[in-house]
Amino acid sequence: MNAANPKSSVRVDAPEWVRHRRLQAWVGEIAALTRPDRIEWCDGSQEEYDRLCAGLVRAGTLRRLNPEKRPNSYLAWSDPDDVARVEDRTFICSERQEDAGPTNNWAPPGQMRETLHGLFDGCMQGRTLYVIPFSMGPLGSPIAHIGVELTDSPYVVANMRIMTRMGRKVYDVLGEDGDFVPCVHSVGKPLQPGEADVPWPCNPTKYIVHYPEAREIWSFGSGYGGNALLGKKCFALRIASNMGRDEGWLAEHMLILGVTSPQGRKMHVAAAFPSACGKTNFAMMIPPASLPGWKVTTIGDDIAWIKPGSDGRLRAINPEAGYFGVAPGTNEKTNYNCMASLRENVLFTNVALTDDGDVWWEGMGPAPAHCLDWQGRDWTPDCGRKAAHPNARFTVSAQQNPAIDPDWDNPEGVTIDAFVVGGRRADTVPLVTEARNWVEGVYMAATLGSQTTAAAAGAQGVVRRDPFAMLPFCGYNMSDYFAHWLRLGDKLQTAGATLPRFFAVNWFQTDDEGRFLWPGFGENMRVLKWMLERIEGDAGGRDTLLGTTPRYEDIAWDGLDFGRDAFDRITAIDAQAWQHELASHAEWFDKLAAGLPAALRAHCERLTAQLVS
Ligand code: OXD
Ligand code: MN
Repeated sequence: MNAANPKSSVRVDAPEWVRHRRLQAWVGEIAALTRPDRIEWCDGSQEEYDRLCAGLVRAGTLRRLNPEKRPNSYLAWSDPDDVARVEDRTFICSERQEDAGPTNNWAPPGQMRETLHGLFDGCMQGRTLYVIPFSMGPLGSPIAHIGVELTDSPYVVANMRIMTRMGRKVYDVLGEDGDFVPCVHSVGKPLQPGEADVPWPCNPTKYIVHYPEAREIWSFGSGYGGNALLGKKCFALRIASNMGRDEGWLAEHMLILGVTSPQGRKMHVAAAFPSACGKTNFAMMIPPASLPGWKVTTIGDDIAWIKPGSDGRLRAINPEAGYFGVAPGTNEKTNYNCMASLRENVLFTNVALTDDGDVWWEGMGPAPAHCLDWQGRDWTPDCGRKAAHPNARFTVSAQQNPAIDPDWDNPEGVTIDAFVVGGRRADTVPLVTEARNWVEGVYMAATLGSQTTAAAAGAQGVVRRDPFAMLPFCGYNMSDYFAHWLRLGDKLQTAGATLPRFFAVNWFQTDDEGRFLWPGFGENMRVLKWMLERIEGDAGGRDTLLGTTPRYEDIAWDGLDFGRDAFDRITAIDAQAWQHELASHAEWFDKLAAGLPAALRAHCERLTAQLVS
């Protein structure tokens, strides 16, 4: 190779293990546009990771934590204006606006390309362009797909190495002409000759842009999480949902867990919960000791790619290889397995630094008498500020999870037996309801809503509809997405396949004082157990307006003092509340309007008619 790029002084110089000409040409094109000082072809090795982290420590981006407390771990503090995904700067630039639908920001792709061309022009000056090859899913799996991210952020490279299967081995799968999703990322802060860098370079102008037809991602101005680690939300959900629609599979914002009964029967569940609904806790749940022999194992904590196998059954993989989880609120009681995963080899972002060189966040345990907060300022328990940012994160390899499922890396994936959807609702939505059929299940997921918590911006307690927990992540028209789910179910059913069951759950009902009625966490195992017994045909239930709900005697109560009255309360359907709820579903469907599958509106009308009769 070694050909100098004519438009840029930088040499592309691909190593001999990169044999993919189209990829080399594309790297050359992006280098000519962004004009980095150098290009580094990442190989994914430990040596490379250690070297990049050492450089990030020198640059002030990372602090090495006390190796005795937290071996081989680092802490980053971001710019205070770059702390979360930026939904209002996220665009789906499909050719036609109606293909993005009413729930996505859209701009004409030609116009957006022009805007981005201007922003990316010279944006990597003074920096290194890193070429990150990554596989979403086990290498070579029929369910996996490959991406290549070009970035000027070594922090992104380090995170991508944990979050994906990244490095040289990906080129073996790609070969000379394999398909990959091109992802271009810049922090948007070129350096003039001699200009000193800042610890967290970024740009107040931010764009997270997806071109669904071209299957391309361009991200500018942010170095944080889903804005910058482009394999995650951008590829694995927004672009992959488009691929799934066109190719007959599903890219979902779902955790995947395995559950094994005392008799050794194993099932797999994929579950969609909006943010702040305990998704990671559910994925890593430890069943109560009073239900001996039950075991929960984690396949994924955030995203599922689900394809029909040759027998028509849906098989799922976790496309990711690590967890990028919210730290605040996590402790040994709420999520023991998560805390155990975080003992070493972790990248923390925006948590507090203790005086002995370890990390701390709200809800982790007793507050230290003093620490440095996520902005590096002195912090004491009475200072009136939070020590960790509420969206502070850890990045850690899935392999460190003590409850990792033996099949988590299986290229064939695992067979899904049940879909679970659930939001945070203080009232109205019962503890658990099983859908009577696929359409009813899709309806439950399409109308999924969650209440904003005190931690979230905006009015507290407002129900935000978040269908399949995909509102910020569906890369095309939401109505078409529902139609895709219905079509896939129809097709598989017609072919005689066994479809997964659907369950809607709500762990979050409260009493008049705002106290949770259901204990949650490991006790959710009781509900999971009922679901599995339903699938096996061994558990009873009661038919309600919304589907099938357990009776008191259908749940195993060993070791938990939870009375019949309390149970009746959290499984009741309040007619008046449901009149409002169904009216709100109808309003939601009005918003989605064009292309909404008639079956969903008909189901809403049927429920409304049954309620008033
Ligand atoms: C996440 C999210 O970070 O859903 O996983 O926002
Ligand atoms: Mn998520």
